[in-house]
Amino acid sequence: MPKPDLHHLKAKAEKLRDQINHHNYLYHVLDAPEVSDAEYDRMMRELEELEREHPELLTPDSPTQRVGAAPSEKFGVVVHRRMMMSLANAMDAEEMVEFDKRIKRFLKSDEDIEYVAEVKLDGLSVELVYENGALAVASTRGDGINGEDVTANIRTIRAVPLHLRKPDRGHIPRLLEVRGEVIIPKAAFERLNAERENAGEPVFANPRNAAAGSLRQLDPKVTASRPLGIFLYAPGVVEGVEFKSQWEFLQGIKALGLRVNPLSRVCPNVNAVLEYWNEMTERRHSLDYDADGVVAKVNSFTLQERLGEVSRSPRWAIAFKFKAQQAETVVEKIEVQVGRIGSLTPVAKLRPVALAGVTISNASLHNLDEIRRKDIREGDTVLIERAGDVIPYVVQVTKEAKPRARPFTMPSHCPDCGGSVVHEEGEVAYFCVNTSCPARMRESIRHFASKNSLDIDGLGDKLVAQLVDRKLVRELDELYSLTVEQLAGLERMAQKSAQNVIDAIQRSRDTTLDRVLNGLGIRHVGEHTARVLAQRFKTLEALSSASEDDLLTVRDIGPEVARSIREYFDEPRNLKMVRRLERHLRIAAPAEPSGRGALRDKTFVLTGTLESMQREEAERKIMAAGGRVTSSVSRKTDFVVAGADPGSKLRKAQELGIRVLDERGLLELLGEG
Ligand code: IVH
Repeated sequence: MPKPDLHHLKAKAEKLRDQINHHNYLYHVLDAPEVSDAEYDRMMRELEELEREHPELLTPDSPTQRVGAAPSEKFGVVVHRRMMMSLANAMDAEEMVEFDKRIKRFLKSDEDIEYVAEVKLDGLSVELVYENGALAVASTRGDGINGEDVTANIRTIRAVPLHLRKPDRGHIPRLLEVRGEVIIPKAAFERLNAERENAGEPVFANPRNAAAGSLRQLDPKVTASRPLGIFLYAPGVVEGVEFKSQWEFLQGIKALGLRVNPLSRVCPNVNAVLEYWNEMTERRHSLDYDADGVVAKVNSFTLQERLGEVSRSPRWAIAFKFKAQQAETVVEKIEVQVGRIGSLTPVAKLRPVALAGVTISNASLHNLDEIRRKDIREGDTVLIERAGDVIPYVVQVTKEAKPRARPFTMPSHCPDCGGSVVHEEGEVAYFCVNTSCPARMRESIRHFASKNSLDIDGLGDKLVAQLVDRKLVRELDELYSLTVEQLAGLERMAQKSAQNVIDAIQRSRDTTLDRVLNGLGIRHVGEHTARVLAQRFKTLEALSSASEDDLLTVRDIGPEVARSIREYFDEPRNLKMVRRLERHLRIAAPAEPSGRGALRDKTFVLTGTLESMQREEAERKIMAAGGRVTSSVSRKTDFVVAGADPGSKLRKAQELGIRVLDERGLLELLGEG
């Protein structure tokens, strides 16, 4: 066989990298992709293969090298060459006008000041350093002077170019320090939380926390699995190119391949900034990311320099905050709920209050640290807020009850079974360790019977509670040994309904591996991971004997997940239960992955509430037919399925001329109509 011509292969790899980088730029920066996901994936695979066969062709900035580094023990320190400042706030239009006057006074000028108005993103600020075009270091803001080195994690964000693009006019600067905000789009945040809830992991309170948590992962593989995005908006030290204004800077970095917010706008005077704020106040809820205000920056860099700074904030910029959606109410009680894996979560029971169109009667208090920090006690009047569309939270206590209740403490014993509660040093979570805790068992059964697990109808909360209390079901497999007589003997259970429940349990025996895996409630294994595992291992037997190393070879499975799966099956009690359960079930081999079905390579976005099925079910059907489901609408989307009360996604689809289906249309496409 002739020796492969290395020159030729090198040129081929370079060409593929250029193409991939170009399509990344079209997709992330210009929001105007020209190829399908499938075509993009094909190029990536081809490059991966080439680099695998000829490792000498690999370059550190190859798009295949986003997850390069191994997990680290802690983050290094990065000293910012120029301090990362914070912004002063304007709380209303008056303060905004006052800011403009102050600037004019300082400059001794009556002329209108030109501003750039931008959306104030509620994420995590970071600095990227490009040296001769290559991404060298990325860091968090930290205290403004010292940040944390998060280079390995930032590299995993697809919208961050590993190498700057050569602009059509001009050149790549010698040094470009650029600051911006890492965010998680709202839709992606909701999906991430749904996944986590499903997998028995604590949910994030808001997209900001999710972004921060994801960026501060010691294992870049975990960060890579999180849907992070980024917008760049401010310069640090720049050498080898000159920008004269903020607007020129934004256009300039966009041409270099960096993502900037398309909503930023030049405002000829302060009135235009106020208008921008009004407009964004209206639009904020339809934005795909959390924003907490508008930032106004003096456009001219010469003026910025003259204005300088006062106590860590520039005199030339201000944050004009949106009005929060808040309400006051009373904390009637603080309760503790026990989750499936035994975690204890404090919840505030509130005197019902209307907020942004819904009645709120619960607020999550997240954990003990949070309650202590805010010193929230029963009977106190509190301010609650809904940020974006997320679950409400308690901002602060506004009026202490008189006399005041004692500070809340976590129970030392489970409120349900009385078993001991453990709390690991340095961790925020508290757990009930009793594996047969009735509260945990109830949650486990509920999860096992849920729509996306074994889908057993009729197992309502009251019935499940009785099954557990009377010890009729001590382990999941015992559901399958229940009889009509046993059920009919329970409160509020007639013969007929008992029969219905038994029938539903019997029907659930015909199932699929991903449903069973999801239903077991293994920590960190939610729907998505269950599907991935089912595809790979095909049987419970094979999965239960897979080593941690085997598991780690699966795409999307990181060390934490691998360990958790192993721990589950290493527990003899679990393994025995699974073996017994298997005898009751007829588990079908998983459907073939995308590729063969009628919807092969088609991309769908679901919005609004569907009538005859839940979203997850629609998703599963689309995937089984070879399609893909994503969370946001772009030109790459083939179909948008709109249910009742669709959101901004429908509008976007219409703007882009994407085909919109209703539920019937989807079923027809699936051949079920
Ligand atoms: S400019 C010297 N622009 O707000 C000015 N900041 O309170 C530096 N932020 O730490 C910041 N969106 O995390 C700027 N369009 C935007 C922003 C923005 C969000 C955050 C940033 C910063 C904080 C300042």
